[in-house]
Amino acid sequence: MLPKTMNGIFITFEGIEGCGKTTQAKLLAEELRIQDCKVLFTREPGGPRISEKIRDILLNKEFTEMHRLTEVFLYMASRSQHTIEWILPALKKGIIVICDRYYDSTYAYQGAAREISYKDIDFINKIATGGLKPDITFVLDLPVEIGLARVQNTVDPSKGIDRLERENIKFHQKVREGYLELAKAEKDRIIVLDGQEKVEIIHRKIMIHISNLLNKLKFKRGKNHEK
Ligand code: TMP
Repeated sequence: MLPKTMNGIFITFEGIEGCGKTTQAKLLAEELRIQDCKVLFTREPGGPRISEKIRDILLNKEFTEMHRLTEVFLYMASRSQHTIEWILPALKKGIIVICDRYYDSTYAYQGAAREISYKDIDFINKIATGGLKPDITFVLDLPVEIGLARVQNTVDPSKGIDRLERENIKFHQKVREGYLELAKAEKDRIIVLDGQEKVEIIHRKIMIHISNLLNKLKFKRGKNHEK
């Protein structure tokens, strides 16, 4: 949950490759804008230009020699710039921030799959985020084979699949299990949704959770509530 000085709401989307989180995050942003909310839609790794440059390094399929420690620090470097330059200022202004991936990805990918200890991730992540936590997180869950097949079918042939998507099926299974474990440990924050359901049905479920959250936090719609 956010410190009291923050008026905005921080929503994150998570899941394995091809789970449909980006589609859902965009649909939510559109719907909230229609409802007269000010929204910042962003992603990790990425967001501000420095973080986008780090994303290019992280996902570059040629960098097969990247060590898992280099990898985790690059994700954190991207996150700290993103959090300080974009996310915190937006939250302070009362904007709803929707982020396609945030720190749960690090626990699932670098923790569960690459086997960096959760204790080490906790330590560096706290520095990168300054202790910021999402108000709510949606994990779209589905079998790895289905997610990876979706990635293959939608890939831009001129680019090919990225460095992480190229990992073997066992790796992606560990990521999936990692997410389910995180969700079990934080039932109040993390909502697991069936990523195999129709896009419209998943969207409706997300809207119910978000409407409840906005009501609970007495969030005022309207674009002029910035401080
Ligand atoms: P995506 O934004 O297209 O999902 O690609 C981002 C990739 O980076 C995806 O494979 C997940 C991975 N990732 C991590 O391994 N750790 C992280 O902390 C984050 C944010 C992403």
